[in-house]
Amino acid sequence: MVEIRALKESDRGHVRALELFCIREYLESSLKKNWDDLPQDLIDQLGASSKGSFDHYLDSGLSYVALEEGQIIGFVFTQMMDFINNVPKVLWVESVAVHPDHRRKGVGYKLLKKCATDGKKKGAKAVQSIIMPDLAASVMLHKKLGFFMDGRKVSFLDLETFQ
Ligand SMILES: CC(C)(COP(=O)(O)OP(=O)(O)OC[C@H]1O[C@@H](n2cnc3c(N)ncnc32)[C@H](O)[C@@H]1OP(=O)(O)O)[C@@H](O)C(=O)NCCC(=O)NCCS
Repeated sequence: MVEIRALKESDRGHVRALELFCIREYLESSLKKNWDDLPQDLIDQLGASSKGSFDHYLDSGLSYVALEEGQIIGFVFTQMMDFINNVPKVLWVESVAVHPDHRRKGVGYKLLKKCATDGKKKGAKAVQSIIMPDLAASVMLHKKLGFFMDGRKVSFLDLETFQ
């Protein structure tokens, strides 16, 4: 039986391990990058469970873990944004993942549904999530929930190096 509950401080280590496992899986299979070649300080910054962002998503009150027999098997990190693309109060999905041994059993669906339902109760008008087009499972999961994808692409400017 899968339980979905709010993220807690004590989940930090297990969620970190699971998120890094999933990032590694993606980088090695899609981008053909060798994990062992990445510098540790870069690895430390990856993901929503990194030192710099875990607390933020914990404090959002809209991040969740999925448990089976007490073990964390999935998570979703989200936050409420005041305004995006002309829509006030948008629930932003930063990261969602399920351990490979527990995929295709409805866990990802339950996690996204929980944050959408609770986000709506807290006044969210929409949910936004960045999807990698080459991750079929992620695209299909979002479609099943009713997300629609338009032609927009996100672009980033690194202000650490911008002058
Ligand atoms: C994407 C991910 C979170 C899906 O989690 P999951 O628990 O396996 O998904 P669910 O079992 O809830 O699937 C819900 C629906 O999504 C679709 N889906 C999920 N995995 C799929 C796959 N591998 N192929 C095709 N459709 C898939 C199906 O429509 C499925 O419904 P169905 O089983 O009734 O057909 C999981 O594959 C994962 O952790 N991947 C690695 C991390 C990742 O890509 N995160 C998303 C970043 S944007």
